[in-house]
Amino acid sequence: MALVIRPATFADIPAITRIYAHAVKTGTASFELEPPDEAEMTARMRAVLDGKFPYIVAELEGAIAGYAYASLYRTRPAYRFTVEDSVYVDPDMQRRGVGKVLLMRLIEDCTALGFRQMIAVIGDSHQAASIGVHKACGFEPAGNLKNIGWKFGRWLDTPFMQLALGDGALTPPRERNGGPRRSSDLH
Ligand SMILES: CC(C)(COP(=O)(O)OP(=O)(O)OC[C@H]1O[C@@H](n2cnc3c(N)ncnc32)[C@H](O)[C@@H]1OP(=O)(O)O)[C@@H](O)C(=O)NCCC(=O)NCCS
Repeated sequence: MALVIRPATFADIPAITRIYAHAVKTGTASFELEPPDEAEMTARMRAVLDGKFPYIVAELEGAIAGYAYASLYRTRPAYRFTVEDSVYVDPDMQRRGVGKVLLMRLIEDCTALGFRQMIAVIGDSHQAASIGVHKACGFEPAGNLKNIGWKFGRWLDTPFMQLALGDGALTPPRERNGGPRRSSDLH
């Protein structure tokens, strides 16, 4: 299949909003309970782009098959070399390798930008797809917070997975633009 990975634009918002809404309504990857509308998704994309984080889409024959972006894991400045990833694939396009291709590109882009660690906060211990895609990209388990979410009438864990980027912790990081960046906390 001719899968194209490219930077996301605001024209992709309707497709991204639809994909995310399905995930919010039917799954536990997101701990949101109500799907955000296009205006809110636009504001969130703007925050990611303003922070100079990668936001990418996978396009298959003109249709958006999935999207991924990085944002700061936490906003206090000492965390500034650590990003959290988000990746969502259209339900009709899952299990065809789209998620893995998106995540691999996001890892590449974040490494090139000088980030040193990528964190995946998995929504629910039984989230085989999310755990599977991160494992396939080299992430390792990094702990689990138990029973901290409540959705669909049950308690949810948030397992963490982690991947070192580039030199990881072997060398000091190189400051980018001379100082800490800012981004909204999107989760
Ligand atoms: C998680 C998600 C992005 C995976 O995308 P995908 O395109 O379906 O995944 P891929 O086809 O690229 O599969 C990548 C790997 O994960 C594994 N995997 C994917 N879905 C799986 C499932 N349901 N059960 C077990 N393993 C699964 C695949 O076997 C594959 O491993 P391999 O490369 O060793 O064969 C997608 O299922 C999704 O959007 N889910 C809802 C939202 C979500 O959970 N997002 C992650 C939170 S940040």
